Amino acid sequence: MMTGAIPIFLMPTRNNFGIIGPIPKSEFAWESIQKKIAANPFITDKTAKPRVLTITQSTYDGILYNVEDIKEELDGKIDTLHFDEAWLPHAAFHDFYGDYHAIGADRPRCKESMIFATQSTHKLLAGLSQASQILVQDAENQKLDRDIFNEAYLMHTSTSPQYSIIASCDVAAAMMEEPGGTALVEESIAEALDFRRAMRKVDEEWGVDWWFKVWGPDDLSEEGIEERDAWMLKPGERWHGFNNLADGFNMLDPIKATIITPGLDVDGDFANEFGIPAAIVTKYLAEHGVIVEKCGLYSFFIMFTIGITKGRWNTLVTALQQFKDDYDKNQPLWKVLPEFVQKNPRYERVGLRDLCTQIHSVYKQNDVARLTTEMYLSDMVPAMRPADAFAKMAHREIERVAVDNLEGRITAVLLTPYPPGIPLLIPGERFNTTICSYLKFVREFNAAFPGFETDTHGLVKDSEGRYYVDCVR
Ligand SMILES: Cc1ncc(COP(=O)(O)O)c(C=O)c1O
Repeated sequence: MMTGAIPIFLMPTRNNFGIIGPIPKSEFAWESIQKKIAANPFITDKTAKPRVLTITQSTYDGILYNVEDIKEELDGKIDTLHFDEAWLPHAAFHDFYGDYHAIGADRPRCKESMIFATQSTHKLLAGLSQASQILVQDAENQKLDRDIFNEAYLMHTSTSPQYSIIASCDVAAAMMEEPGGTALVEESIAEALDFRRAMRKVDEEWGVDWWFKVWGPDDLSEEGIEERDAWMLKPGERWHGFNNLADGFNMLDPIKATIITPGLDVDGDFANEFGIPAAIVTKYLAEHGVIVEKCGLYSFFIMFTIGITKGRWNTLVTALQQFKDDYDKNQPLWKVLPEFVQKNPRYERVGLRDLCTQIHSVYKQNDVARLTTEMYLSDMVPAMRPADAFAKMAHREIERVAVDNLEGRITAVLLTPYPPGIPLLIPGERFNTTICSYLKFVREFNAAFPGFETDTHGLVKDSEGRYYVDCVR
């Protein structure tokens, strides 16, 4: 964005649980990309070759793309195919992941396009925080210009190297050497599967009574780590809720476990009887020593990184059983969420089930699952180049606009609702009606349920509780 790049976007699917799905294979078709280039008002040379395609591989919830299919479609059409593998550095060390990651031993080169993979060694391997790495695979007819690469790299990094971070990359690499690395990845997958089986067993024991579900394929074998085929996202299967899937194009990484709480089905319909918003479960878990990675409306996410053993995930299963017990007894919050109540005394005498019901009814009334899905899939209209809009902010040529007056205005900042923590608008795009309705919902919800605020990066709150976004003047 800072270099003046003009982005066009490939549109992902999203199910009504709020899980961002894969970008359909048809979006990668060169004709489809060309149409987007033709429609973008800021691209003057419609024949210019795109510089880079950046794909999040895997998505936050663990959805992976078949990289060989993407290479086949776009080799030579785009200079560089960049796979953001922040959450996937483990994949190269186990055959389970096959072609569903970017660079590995014996993987064929493109003829013309360079392949880049950026990986957060600190997220799934043993690197210290900030220990990220860039992998590059030359094409048959194209080599990395190391001097230019170095120039660009040095522009964006500190001049003071942190040797402990660099050393931690070496440690991570040594840990992953054959055969130890493969065994460690295999263990993570095995633990993740055992956790999924344990959750299903508890579900069976409860019979018709409610329990949490782990998002994933319906059929799981009795033991072992399963074949890759079991984790493919197949067209028409209801568990994932995504449309427009192509055969063999996507799989789910089993080590990413999204836990679904009761109250919302995959079509976006809220249950009439009861609902348990995930934000309450994750607060409860935090007070029981379990910190979750990400929290959605009725889902939250945990990861089986190397070193997560049965002892650890058992703590989670036990805490969830304890939650169920406290929920069913409608225990007062002072008893079950003492730290939270200390900060938010207004909830002291509220029962756990009553609070869930209150928040569930507000979500239901506002049809929030569909609202957020529609908002993410709505047409984003670029009104300025992102670099120009961002420069307006840098030069303070902006105006702080109240949420009620945002429709039609151009944002100078990134707007990122959390969950799911994915930018909704980038600088230079215009606010539409759906996005404005969502922001009004956020304002009302935050006022009604302090302590459970929906965080939206880019939204500025003043001391009177009014919300604004910095827009181009
Ligand atoms: C998809 C994705 N890419 C990149 C990053 C940033 O990675 P790093 O912390 O290695 O800079 C994140 C961080 O969470 C991420 O989720």
